Amino acid sequence: MNIVKTVDQVRAQVKAWRAEGLSVGLVPTMGYLHEGHGSLISKAVEQNDRVVVSVFVNPTQFGPNEDLEAYPRDMNRDSALCEKLGASLIFNPEPSEMYRPGFCTHVNMDVLTSTLCGASRPVHFGGVCTVCSKLFNIVKPDRAYFGQKDAQQLAIIRRMVEDLNMDLEIVACPIVREEDGLAKSSRNTYLNEDERKAALVLSKAIFLGQDMVKDGATSAAEVKKAMTDLINSEPLARIDYVEIVDGLTMQPVEEIGAPTLAAIAVYIGKTRLIDNFIV
Ligand code: PAF
Repeated sequence: MNIVKTVDQVRAQVKAWRAEGLSVGLVPTMGYLHEGHGSLISKAVEQNDRVVVSVFVNPTQFGPNEDLEAYPRDMNRDSALCEKLGASLIFNPEPSEMYRPGFCTHVNMDVLTSTLCGASRPVHFGGVCTVCSKLFNIVKPDRAYFGQKDAQQLAIIRRMVEDLNMDLEIVACPIVREEDGLAKSSRNTYLNEDERKAALVLSKAIFLGQDMVKDGATSAAEVKKAMTDLINSEPLARIDYVEIVDGLTMQPVEEIGAPTLAAIAVYIGKTRLIDNFIV
């Protein structure tokens, strides 16, 4: 697998592809790839002539007490998966390559970042917007691929691309789940055996909410309460948020219509996991 570390190397490769008239897809990741990332890479391979996967644990999207140091890394495995799925290039920069001395330009967003993960992780989305802007400028892809599991991130990236007239298409891919329902996440690796069992309460709450809406429930308060009660029945779970918001603005709604996002973040022990469904 071709792995490059510098911006210049990526640019040279993409320029060569462009000279041949080839289209380019980008899958931005923080590595420790699982089947959720795999589905993004496969989609990108299907829709583009060449695919760049960026593997970069972006320090600017972690708060001071978050898991930047502990975040799992395994470049050999990541590279094998990218190769198997047909990606063309891995961009794996050091933080010093992405954030050169004197770096002081940041992309920030209002409104969409004020709720859900943005409320409990105040620096997070500024870091995500900044690094994704950089990656889009470095790779200049035709399309970039994001998972629906990070639904707020996806809405924010779409908004940023629209607001800043970025010339690429954002493609969303559905949540990939373990057989028992748990949404795939690199952070699942932090869970011990008891916590792994307890973590099922997230997908159970999501499926419960989804069923209520399918059965005609339209009151956000009612659905939120049922989901909250279910999560609270699990002793190892501690709710960060259970919210039902407008699918575009990420602001709370009272009535469930379309597009609406029901999103949860729950600590299982020390591990913070998220899940959601879209109406
Ligand atoms: O979803 C992620 O893994 C990250 O937030 C992203 C989009 C790669 C930016 O660092």
